[in-house]
Amino acid sequence: MVFLLQMPSHGQSRVPPLWTLAAILAALAVGTAACPPDCICDNLHGVVTCIRRRLTDIPITIPQATKELDIRGNNIDTIATGAFLPIPYLTHLNLQKCNINHLREGAFRGLGRLISLNLGFNNVELIYQETFDGLYSLEQLILNNNKIEEIKPGAFSQLGFLNFLNLEQNFLVYLPPLLFQGLQQIKYMRLSKNMINYMADEAFAGLWTLKRLNLDSNELQYLPSEALSRLTTVVRLDLSRNPMTSLGEESLRMGSLKHLTMDDTFLQDLAATAFVHCPVLSMINLRNSQLQVIEPPVGLEALRMINLTGSPIQCNCFMRPFREWMNNYTRPRAQVFCSDPGPYHGERLDSLRLVHLRCDLRPSDIEEQEEEEVNPANRPNQDGRPCPDHCDCKHELRHSSCEGKRLRKIPKGFPPDSHLLDMRYNEFHSVPRGSFPDMKQLVSLHLQNCGIHDVHAGAFRGLKELIYLYLSFNEMTSLQPEIFEGLPDLTYLYLDHNKLSSIPKGTFRLLPHLFALHLEHNPIPQLTEENMEGAEKLRWLHLTGDNLTYISPTALQPMAQLQKLFLDHNKLTAVPAAALMTMSSLEELKLSGNPIRQIDSGAFLPMAGSLQHLWLNDMGWRRGISDGAFEGVSAGLQSLYLGNNRLSYIPSLDNFRNLHTIDLLHNPWDCDCPLLHLRRWLESSNLKVRAVCNLPRNVTGVSVKAAPFKNCKGSPPEKTQDTPKKTKAGRTGVARKTIKRLKPKRSYNSAKRSGRTQAQ
Ligand SMILES: *[C@@H]1O[C@H](CO)[C@@H](O)[C@H](O)[C@H]1NC(C)=O
Ligand SMILES: *[C@@H]1O[C@H](CO)[C@@H](O)[C@H](O)[C@H]1NC(C)=O
Ligand SMILES: *[C@@H]1O[C@H](CO)[C@@H](O)[C@H](O)[C@H]1NC(C)=O
Ligand SMILES: *[C@@H]1O[C@H](CO)[C@@H](O)[C@H](O)[C@H]1NC(C)=O
Repeated sequence: MVFLLQMPSHGQSRVPPLWTLAAILAALAVGTAACPPDCICDNLHGVVTCIRRRLTDIPITIPQATKELDIRGNNIDTIATGAFLPIPYLTHLNLQKCNINHLREGAFRGLGRLISLNLGFNNVELIYQETFDGLYSLEQLILNNNKIEEIKPGAFSQLGFLNFLNLEQNFLVYLPPLLFQGLQQIKYMRLSKNMINYMADEAFAGLWTLKRLNLDSNELQYLPSEALSRLTTVVRLDLSRNPMTSLGEESLRMGSLKHLTMDDTFLQDLAATAFVHCPVLSMINLRNSQLQVIEPPVGLEALRMINLTGSPIQCNCFMRPFREWMNNYTRPRAQVFCSDPGPYHGERLDSLRLVHLRCDLRPSDIEEQEEEEVNPANRPNQDGRPCPDHCDCKHELRHSSCEGKRLRKIPKGFPPDSHLLDMRYNEFHSVPRGSFPDMKQLVSLHLQNCGIHDVHAGAFRGLKELIYLYLSFNEMTSLQPEIFEGLPDLTYLYLDHNKLSSIPKGTFRLLPHLFALHLEHNPIPQLTEENMEGAEKLRWLHLTGDNLTYISPTALQPMAQLQKLFLDHNKLTAVPAAALMTMSSLEELKLSGNPIRQIDSGAFLPMAGSLQHLWLNDMGWRRGISDGAFEGVSAGLQSLYLGNNRLSYIPSLDNFRNLHTIDLLHNPWDCDCPLLHLRRWLESSNLKVRAVCNLPRNVTGVSVKAAPFKNCKGSPPEKTQDTPKKTKAGRTGVARKTIKRLKPKRSYNSAKRSGRTQAQ
């Protein structure tokens, strides 16, 4: 059954081939899914491989128990929302080299066990905030060699267990604030070979566990001092091959940095105090720089090695202080070769004596010999510090975990300096008052899937630094607001997939910093102002799949700064226009999957100037779009989703000047004269848009772009179609004007592309 429901999202406009249906039927008959014809299935180990089989979709008959799926080297344009729902046990998924252009939001939903996801060598350009939704266990995410230009903030917010993120060889230019928020266990991040030339000061905020960062081969002209200073745990940093020319005083401030590599830069100036705030820096590579002279670095008590090989060092009197510094310390070893003056060319600096370093040159040679040793010793040991039975406390990382231990009581006695506590998959059923004493430094608390139905007042008291609280997938039916006492900094609250029927009044007065509230998949029939009182700081509100039927006109008023409102997959029969009146900061609005039949003129007008992304797909929308439906917002919209409705006509899109994405698929477009403007718009636009004609009969199935629009004049005639037109005259007027303006260019294009029938 699940397969059958999933098929439309895989198949797009394609009808599943007969063998697929036969395979499903056969599979259902035997009670176990058959191996897809192009794949090799090792059912014993749950491994399915379909490498280089020219597949254009994820095969749909994969055995449900599959753990590893390898579909490298196929030709899959789009990974649709929920594409892997039929195979929820996957731990490893390889989609390398599949020509993937789009990863839809929620593409990997349902893969809560996935550990490794390889999307390398594809053509993905954009990562949505919800692309990686539901990958709660993911440890490794490989996105190298794509065309990623933009990653929406929040895209990684659910990847709390990610260790390794590879974004090498993409097209990133700018790193916005909080881009990596949520990566609470990340150790290693590769951002090499992008085009990064600028990053926000808070770009790396929230990365408390990162050990290793590669930023080599980018376009950084200046050291991003402020942004790097947020990386308080990074041990190795690679900044090689960036066009930097200088490192100023006190410019690098990284308290844990041991290993810095800055090879192949244009570095000409290095301030003596550049590294003074890197107390444990022990290895610096500055190979192939443009440095001619280097001063003795200040404050590097831990330095063991500085390698300047390949730099044009002038071994003259200006290098004396450095040479002296090499002598003074027994430990630091510098690998420095002289470039000039001529007689010293290729000599090691430490083979010369101070007297040889002169500004009136005189050749000579002396020798010393080399020592040998280097130090990799950063593994601390699990000493006798506290950790409850059945749990695992990683003291160095400040993570404690009792995941999946079937514990019935919340243990006590964790290291008080823990940052992250993972207690997912236990059987606590309730969370008593004061369950987390002395954990003043805890930042993230995971209590998902613990069968919790009661949370007592004061349960979280004392968690003064808590930012993330995860209570998803539990059994809570109601909440007293007092449970949120003592959480002054809580920013992200996850209450999704519970049985809550309302938001308790007063909740937000105790959570003054709440930024994102997740309430999706709770049976919340209505929303009123009482519920949201005090939610002034709230920016993201997730109410997906809540069976909402009513939103009172004042319900959203307290949230004047709301940026994202997700109301999709509810039971709303109309756009809650009255409630939206005050939403003047809203950037994203999702109304998909509601039984809304019609959108009135001016429905989104209050969001003029802010709205960027609008989802109106999957609504069975029949009555068409009134001409003024997008009044005020058309110019600002970057994406508009209208797929999977019953639309036969759409008003002119000429005002949508900022559109990056438009989804028109799965609508029965009537390719007659009134829609001629759409064809022209599609021809002139660079966007990849699929829209297919339903009528007239003899062009059914032809794309709008290729439809002949026979007998249409240069402008749509006044002939009345069976499409609804509220303000017919107005619309026709707009279309006519537009066509006149764009006529010369378009007639050339259309003549070239269709080679005929353009009545001009
Ligand atoms: C310094 O860099 C050069 C060139 O890459 C390399 O051959 C040499 O081994 C390095 N020295 C040390 C001690 O790492
Ligand atoms: C090296 O040591 C001498 C004597 O202790 C001191 O005068 C000099 O400033 C030191 N030089 C450097 C570069 O540390
Ligand atoms: C919404 O209603 C449907 C049917 O009426 C039900 O199956 C579903 O579980 C409800 N959703 C929630 C989150 O309660
Ligand atoms: C469709 O039918 C119309 C009239 O019935 C005819 O003029 C037109 O040429 C046909 N178009 C195609 C593409 O067959």
